[in-house]
Amino acid sequence: MIDVNNTTNQFPVINKSNELYDRIKRIIPSGTHTLAKGVSQYVDGIAPKFLERGSGSIVWDVDGNEFIDFTMAVGPLSLGYSYYRVDEAIKEQLAKGISFSLLNPLELEAAELIQEVVPNAEMVRFARGGADVTSMAVRLARAYTGKSKILCCGYHGWHDWYVSVTPRNNGIPNQVQELTNTFEYNNIQSLIDSIDENVAAVILEPVTFFEPKDNFLQNIAEVCKQNGIVLVFDEMWTGFRMALGGAQEYFGIKPDLATYSKAIANGMPLAVITGKSEIMKLIENDVFIYSTFGGEALSLAAAKATINELKDKKVPQYLNEIGYVLKNGINTILEEVGIDYIKAIGYNFRLMLDINHPTIDSLIVKSFIQQELIRKGILWSTYYNMSYSHTTELINYTIESHRLVFEKLKNVVDKGNIENEIRGIPIQPLFRKVSNFNTKPRQ
Ligand SMILES: Cc1ncc(COP(=O)(O)O)c(C=O)c1O
Repeated sequence: MIDVNNTTNQFPVINKSNELYDRIKRIIPSGTHTLAKGVSQYVDGIAPKFLERGSGSIVWDVDGNEFIDFTMAVGPLSLGYSYYRVDEAIKEQLAKGISFSLLNPLELEAAELIQEVVPNAEMVRFARGGADVTSMAVRLARAYTGKSKILCCGYHGWHDWYVSVTPRNNGIPNQVQELTNTFEYNNIQSLIDSIDENVAAVILEPVTFFEPKDNFLQNIAEVCKQNGIVLVFDEMWTGFRMALGGAQEYFGIKPDLATYSKAIANGMPLAVITGKSEIMKLIENDVFIYSTFGGEALSLAAAKATINELKDKKVPQYLNEIGYVLKNGINTILEEVGIDYIKAIGYNFRLMLDINHPTIDSLIVKSFIQQELIRKGILWSTYYNMSYSHTTELINYTIESHRLVFEKLKNVVDKGNIENEIRGIPIQPLFRKVSNFNTKPRQ
């Protein structure tokens, strides 16, 4: 597959993908359970729609086409597909049982391991998905403070309290919508302006793609302390990637509560909330948070194996190194090719292409890049989610493939015909935003 000098790569045949999609869209609303995996985020007609298997950072679609994957299941695959140590742990547990009628020792063992690596983990509780634990944090903060409002910055999942601030808030009562406001990253004043006596929690992604400036995170912690507000770090992306303990370890700031998922169990559905005992202990009496699958054992076995492997192999350090090579490589090529409206940005463990052409819609530019990367056997959608299975060889191939793609891009942009060169339906806007949040408190 890997031949960077092959400029004649054809688009993959995706007949089976298309066939399955025709069926799935009739039975599953919007055709996907995860927006970022859906057809709207890929050039329709060119990109595969269904993946069948993966190994390391390579995936195969249902038509048998092979790609290097840079989405890595939208975050979870910190180690890679079919990763031996994790898969063996899952198999071993599968032979013993998946769910039990009483407690299982894995609940304790996984919690103790998390306590070892996450600085604020005085207590730990498991759930299945990211939205479960961000919503737990919100409920705990409200119970602890006796206040109701939430101030947030970033994306935090599908539940009412968060989605109420987005344009897709149909089905959420006004009373709920009135209780959440947003603030702007790196703008401490926007947070201060949103605070009133009824704010229970400030929840934010500690970093997305931009570095915190002027002690932004420290200042948030201070403002929360002064106002009796519970500080929550949403570490879905930063956890077990930026450092094992996430941004709280990296920046040396302990939030009152923190929420993790994605990278923790290399693809198994597990989420964790960690935090101060004083707050977490409310679950013992006043706050009701229980669910059937909270202690499901396969995911906990996977988490134990994943965390140990991340630790043993110093994976956060590797992601930083390999991500730096990729970021630097892409930016050097952009400069050499003479494209000044695109830049690879972000912390090295998770990069993105920031596209700002003065006249061409960034989704059109992105669609062209995606289409041409697909031709080179690279599956990409804005982000480069680095994993331990992205080897130096694959990264070098990826960098050189970008050179060919950017040369083509320059050519079609100079000719003024980029739209005609997109061979399918371009990528559609995504609901998630990473900047320009609505900063106005609700009236
Ligand atoms: C920062 C952040 N918080 C929360 C969530 C919600 O997680 P889930 O989709 O597992 O509910 C996501 C999902 O992408 C996320 O990126």
